[in-house]
Amino acid sequence: MKKIGILGGSFDPVHSGHVGLARDALAQAGLDRVLLIPARLQPFKQDRMPASGEDRMEMLRLALAGEERIEPCSYELDQEGVSYTYLTLRAMQERFGPDSRICFITGTDSILKLDTWMHAEELLTTYSFIVGSRPGYEDEELDRCVRRLKETYGTEILVIRNEQFDISATEIRERLASGAPAGDLIPQAVEDYIRSRGLYSGRTINDRGFAYIKEHLKESRLVHTCRVADEAAALARRFGADPAKAVTASIFHDMAKNLTREEMNRQVRTFGLDPKYIDNPNLAHSKIARCLMERDFGIGDQDILNAVSYHTTGRAGMSLLEKVVFLADGIEPGRIYPSVDVIRDLARTDLDKACLCMLERTVGYLKKKGAFIDTDTTDALAYLKDKRDPEREEKEHA
Ligand SMILES: [Fe+2]
Ligand SMILES: [Fe+2]
Repeated sequence: MKKIGILGGSFDPVHSGHVGLARDALAQAGLDRVLLIPARLQPFKQDRMPASGEDRMEMLRLALAGEERIEPCSYELDQEGVSYTYLTLRAMQERFGPDSRICFITGTDSILKLDTWMHAEELLTTYSFIVGSRPGYEDEELDRCVRRLKETYGTEILVIRNEQFDISATEIRERLASGAPAGDLIPQAVEDYIRSRGLYSGRTINDRGFAYIKEHLKESRLVHTCRVADEAAALARRFGADPAKAVTASIFHDMAKNLTREEMNRQVRTFGLDPKYIDNPNLAHSKIARCLMERDFGIGDQDILNAVSYHTTGRAGMSLLEKVVFLADGIEPGRIYPSVDVIRDLARTDLDKACLCMLERTVGYLKKKGAFIDTDTTDALAYLKDKRDPEREEKEHA
């Protein structure tokens, strides 16, 4: 029987403690492989912008480049919604088959609280556990806990010796932000990557955008924004757009949404925008956001700017990134309306179909309300309908 070790975490960033624990588990528990699986993070629960899933995966790749049988796995990043260990372990069991034993690798603190996790009983009765324990540390409490879990659930738990799992990611981020070297807390290649990308400096465009929206948006809007960022990153990965750009566009897309109507009208005039946006906050907020991004944040990437500018209306000839942000805004997990699940289903396989369906729904909804419909929206709808026709014909002839 193959033994697969799973080590989850935020890996923001991956550090020597993670690598050490994976190595110790591999050797001491006789594992065949160890997968390090970064979780999807919820930025609104943090006081700073977490590194994107792509950056966290890249740092894992660099940290594990020289390792045999220890590798990163993007499973949780590729899923929609919040990550739960029980869902990940189910998926890993399915991936590796019934002849494999899935072993969840964790630290002392987590195993002590494991009863309170979602589907704890399923976890404890189905999978094995490997606990990294510093010698002498909380030994008695850990022993008691292991005995109790074995007696209650029959759980297979192996306690291994691990010296350095208690490295603090917060400390690493603080050191890096102050310009101090991280020493041996993180692999050199990871540190070089962090510096080259400006991560944890508090000065990346995403950091600055996040600080802005935290100050200017209501909490519910901030939560929505973070969900859009997660959704857009997942869609970008699925359809081959740039996830980093998708996240940046998402962070900024509703930055002007909580301006008062008077402020919005004033901004429309200040930026010399089309007067049709006066008294139309629904459309104006996306156009104002584009102008603020250019003027106050120095963002010049036209694709990112267009993704923000057209996130409400869509337009004919939308780019891949524009579609991703447009769709993410409409289907993030907090959205509830009659056809949302149909659109979410389409978004799994066909970006254009999903956008078309969302546009049809938008136009229908606005017509029913007797509200203003922007020509960009009707153009986008016509464009995507046209675009689909030849494909349909092809299929019919096939
Ligand atoms: Fe918006
Ligand atoms: Fe939005």
